Amino acid sequence: MQYFLDSADTEFIAKALEYYPVEGVTTNPTIIAKERKEFRPLIKEIRSILGGDPALHVQCLASVAEDIVREALAIREFAGDNFYAKIPVTPDGLKAIKLLKSQDMKITATAIFTPQQALMAALAGADYCAPYVDRLDNLSVDGAKVVADMVQLFHIHKLSARVLAASFKNVEQVHRVCLAGAHSVTVGKDVFKKLIYHPMTDQSIARFVSDWEEVYGKGQTALTV
Ligand code: G3P
Repeated sequence: MQYFLDSADTEFIAKALEYYPVEGVTTNPTIIAKERKEFRPLIKEIRSILGGDPALHVQCLASVAEDIVREALAIREFAGDNFYAKIPVTPDGLKAIKLLKSQDMKITATAIFTPQQALMAALAGADYCAPYVDRLDNLSVDGAKVVADMVQLFHIHKLSARVLAASFKNVEQVHRVCLAGAHSVTVGKDVFKKLIYHPMTDQSIARFVSDWEEVYGKGQTALTV
């Protein structure tokens, strides 16, 4: 199981990497555009925050297969070693995935809404397949069930592709896809912060501190008493 950050907010990425078990960053054109920064320096900045190892997924914008291939190869030049080209599951996208696999490109198939799209992408050579859970839920389709079907398909057919569930608007959606067997999730800033929040945790800690300080004094810890 892997957590990724669905964000290009460098401050958030740096902090989340420091505190949480995060394996990398995913972006899409909307996420990049939101930062209002130049594309190439932004990707380089994210890579330098990540360091060499964590994965960085960046989406191609072109719509014709050969152009997608050129774009993916160009982005790889400055996005660092552990780069994944995100490619939407159009016919040209699938052709590009097949072409790029012969050039050792790591690939995340994206904009996935059905298990058949995911199966096709996995067979074409995608390493990750990204279904959009909240957008499915908003179409009255059970996003977590789509994820479960994808996981099952990959398992039945012994495919090495992993499900990278994306598009979340609340913690329950993340939790349900984790239970459905998603191999990874990518979560934006607002939902990510809420993943471990619980008011009872804060309340419990406040009580521990006040009980302790009543006896041992304010600011004391196990190291000082
Ligand atoms: O990265 C793709 C996916 O996360 C899109 O999310 O929130 O725009 O539906 P959202």
